[in-house]
Amino acid sequence: MAIEILQRDEELPSEWAHIFFPPEKREYELVYYGKERGEDILADTMAVPLQPVSTFGKNSDDWHNKLIFGDNLQVMKTLLKMKEKGELVNADGTPGVRLIYIDPPFATKKEFLGSKEQRAYQDKIIGAEFVEFLRQRLIIMSKLLTPDGFICVHLDYRKKHYIKIIMDEIFGENSFRNEIIVNRVKKSNHEREKVRKLNEEFDTILLYAKSEGAQLLPPTKVAKKGPRWHGFDAPNFRTGMDYSLFGRKPNSNRHWSWEESRARVAVNNYVRYEKERIDDETIEEYSQRIGTDIDSMEFIRAKPSTGTPEYFIPASDSVLCNNVWNDISAYSFSNAYPTEKSEALLSRIIGMITNSRDIVLDAFAGSGTTCAVAEKLGRRWISIDCGKLSIYTIQKRLLNLKLEIGNKGKHINAKPFTLYNAGLYDFSTLKQLPWADWRFFALQLFGCKDEPHEIGGLRLDGKLRRASVMVFNHRENPGKRIDEETIEDIHNAVGKLIGNRFFIVAPRGVFDFQQDYIDLEGIRYYALRIPYSIINELHQREFSALQQPNDATSVNETVNAVGFDFIQPPKVEWSLSIVKRENCDEACLRIKSFKSRARLRGKDTQGEWETFSMLMLDYDYNGKIFDMDAVADAHQMQKNDWQVFFPLERLGVNIMVNFIDIYGNEAREMITRNTFSPAATQSKPVKKKKTRS
Ligand SMILES: C[S@@+](CC[C@H](N)C(=O)[O-])C[C@H]1O[C@@H](n2cnc3c(N)ncnc32)[C@H](O)[C@@H]1O
Repeated sequence: MAIEILQRDEELPSEWAHIFFPPEKREYELVYYGKERGEDILADTMAVPLQPVSTFGKNSDDWHNKLIFGDNLQVMKTLLKMKEKGELVNADGTPGVRLIYIDPPFATKKEFLGSKEQRAYQDKIIGAEFVEFLRQRLIIMSKLLTPDGFICVHLDYRKKHYIKIIMDEIFGENSFRNEIIVNRVKKSNHEREKVRKLNEEFDTILLYAKSEGAQLLPPTKVAKKGPRWHGFDAPNFRTGMDYSLFGRKPNSNRHWSWEESRARVAVNNYVRYEKERIDDETIEEYSQRIGTDIDSMEFIRAKPSTGTPEYFIPASDSVLCNNVWNDISAYSFSNAYPTEKSEALLSRIIGMITNSRDIVLDAFAGSGTTCAVAEKLGRRWISIDCGKLSIYTIQKRLLNLKLEIGNKGKHINAKPFTLYNAGLYDFSTLKQLPWADWRFFALQLFGCKDEPHEIGGLRLDGKLRRASVMVFNHRENPGKRIDEETIEDIHNAVGKLIGNRFFIVAPRGVFDFQQDYIDLEGIRYYALRIPYSIINELHQREFSALQQPNDATSVNETVNAVGFDFIQPPKVEWSLSIVKRENCDEACLRIKSFKSRARLRGKDTQGEWETFSMLMLDYDYNGKIFDMDAVADAHQMQKNDWQVFFPLERLGVNIMVNFIDIYGNEAREMITRNTFSPAATQSKPVKKKKTRS
């Protein structure tokens, strides 16, 4: 039976798979319900094609930084394919990503109110699901890294101990380099009588290398004190470090800080330059004068008051970082995005791991701190997020980038970057692709190998689970339909040569029959329709759609989307008015009805208010780029009777409104400034009623 299943190239039931392919023996591992085999995760995750939406900036370089909207698991599988094809290459030619930094959501949401036991039980389920969610992604990340790459996983006290074990399993215990402690938001410390637990004051970054040999560029921090002379002795006795200097030896049970030869050079330097000046400005000049490296311009003198040796520490001197980074804040507190991390933090991480033009990946991009800093430091970057709020926040951040870390200083233009959709596609623009691009997209969409071949004179395009795939050329054959007769013709021509399965990919409208497949003499001919979602049978996984938050607290939820779908803008009815609020005239937009039209698992579904996610506004739309100025989520809108108010004085000639449903579909509407004419400034609604179809 098992052999028959394998011969049919089908999946073995999991209980058998464990007998035939037992998991590797480990001394210890984290066990929880729902833990999948690593091999299955790699094999079963769908790679979804990237559909370019818009490119910002132009250059001749063929690399464009990438901002990708989609579920990171599927997107990273696509990146893995790009790595295999040599499309992800660092400055020194190494394939892959040099650094991955991730700051995933911390699995905090509680779903229901039950008894204490019920809640505790549910917390554990959510916990195990979170661990598996992250583990699946970490497995793909480990494959994406260069052999000398590093990964930093930013976590808090809640799940870090589980994830440490998972990372030991994936990367190997020997690849663990550090637990880095970073400051988290401080709570005010009111005195209380009863205290259940202490304040949590730090987050953790788990730093792992891809291989044992991988080297960090030592991170340094600038010494806080200015230039100064510092005592030359150190605690404990050390053989050979108790030589005589200025006629003195270190006190008992102490030693001199440097080897004797180094100390003698430093004493000579002092003797030579003492009459000039020993300070930060002159040291560099002396090093240039005698043609020596600035690092060997060290000075030791006998302290004028006591005669004991002391050495000079320049103000610019920097010290090697330890793993407690309490000299910088890990959070930015900018209000742009919940849990936004600081540029100082990312600057230190990127600086200690990558070189100029290396590739940096952040798969939970949020407000885009990683890509903003990568951009400033001249690194190449890929950022992924499944939230529209994140995507538009990042787009805005990159278009308004400032030179200095902390986003200060003069404006700089970000290098060209392209925004892609992954897993949620716009069919109308796909249809316009040149044939070669359409063919490639169609193959990628259904996970087929691009492998042109010929059987019995029939030109075929690829392979899917070893069966042949034909991408129907609707451009070459305009008006031609695929009906049951077409399938019979194919069967008569090549049926004996093609095994037991055959796939035809074509736009949905080209097929003249409804079934997903047609069986002819034991051969199954599948119709893979675009834009229909793929039939579940091919992937053994239920499709699930991307989910957008509908209030501020859920912006940082984990999202797990499987498969792909096609954009269907929601239908919105709305009206405009000018209202007086706190003695000021404000523009007001009121949503009168909202209908989402998502296509989920190949079926069209409709939803109303419950499928509204958020509304975004660009007060001064320039006709090309949506530059988000304000956001109102479903929760806020509902509280305000589905109205949003915005300042009249900030409005430009054109205003763009973007209505987004919870599946990530957008409907955009442009409003002109003169809709809000001064004559209309009295209290009740003046304009406009508009219906969009
Ligand atoms: C804590 S935030 C990251 C904040 C970021 N480090 C910053 O500095 O702004 C986590 C992000 O992960 C995103 N996210 C959650 N699940 C995801 C998934 N499966 N794929 C891609 N992004 C996901 C959320 O939309 C959210 O923006």
